[in-house]
Amino acid sequence: MTAFETPPFAGASPSEGAAAPLHVAVVMDGNGRWAKQRGLPRSLGHSAGVEALKRTVEAAPRLNIRWLTVFGFSTENWSRPAAEVAELMALPKRYFETDIARLDREGVRVRVIGRREGLSSELVRLVDDAQARTERNDRFHLNIAFNYGGQADITDAVRRFAEDVAAGRCKPQDLDERLFGSLLATSGSPPPDLIVRPSGEQRLSNFLLWEAAYAELVFQDVLWPDYGEQHLREALTQFAARDRRYGAIAADNVLATG
Ligand code: IPE
Ligand code: MG
Repeated sequence: MTAFETPPFAGASPSEGAAAPLHVAVVMDGNGRWAKQRGLPRSLGHSAGVEALKRTVEAAPRLNIRWLTVFGFSTENWSRPAAEVAELMALPKRYFETDIARLDREGVRVRVIGRREGLSSELVRLVDDAQARTERNDRFHLNIAFNYGGQADITDAVRRFAEDVAAGRCKPQDLDERLFGSLLATSGSPPPDLIVRPSGEQRLSNFLLWEAAYAELVFQDVLWPDYGEQHLREALTQFAARDRRYGAIAADNVLATG
């Protein structure tokens, strides 16, 4: 049994396990609209979004999910007003301060994927500490995409490969999909089986562009601050009804076509 096949949490029901995806990625979207609907400042929408993240991180292992990657801040979110950017920058600190000890105790490995440039030195230190503290855990994997963009990540990987070639450390013909995947920020995580986007928007918004190649996509009409276990269950139900063929044909078609 490989590490990826290890059953996650004792007590998860086998019937759920059969259809449950291993790696779920979530575009946490709709905080601003949630706040607006209530006549609240957007910052309170983001705070409520952190609570939804906590609920989702707790629910995921119960649903046999082993990897969860969440989109917290994109390389394009810098174009928001400075005050909102500052509020978003403060969220990981708040989340780690209240939750990192419990995450560690529960065997969660936390990784923050994205560019470090642009983050305050305090935030970088906090992220490094959270990662170092949890790096030996492997019961559940939480990847937080922060200052992350799929195009930025691919560009950074290409640049690093080009530098290696220029320095004579490898040759252009060494590059294949496996090597390229290992140069990305998600290296070490299996590709997402399911990408979920609440809030009604139906796009990837630069999330996991390479890794999404064969992910199933589920869009849900709920704003992220309202998200909880029931919505995740519904997404998994949709996922379970999908026929994943990875470019091949369904097994029951093989005989028919000879
Ligand atoms: C998600 O909520 C938080 C981030 C993208 C950082 P939004 O802030 O995008 O909320 P809407 O889309 O304006 O409702
Ligand atoms: Mg949005």
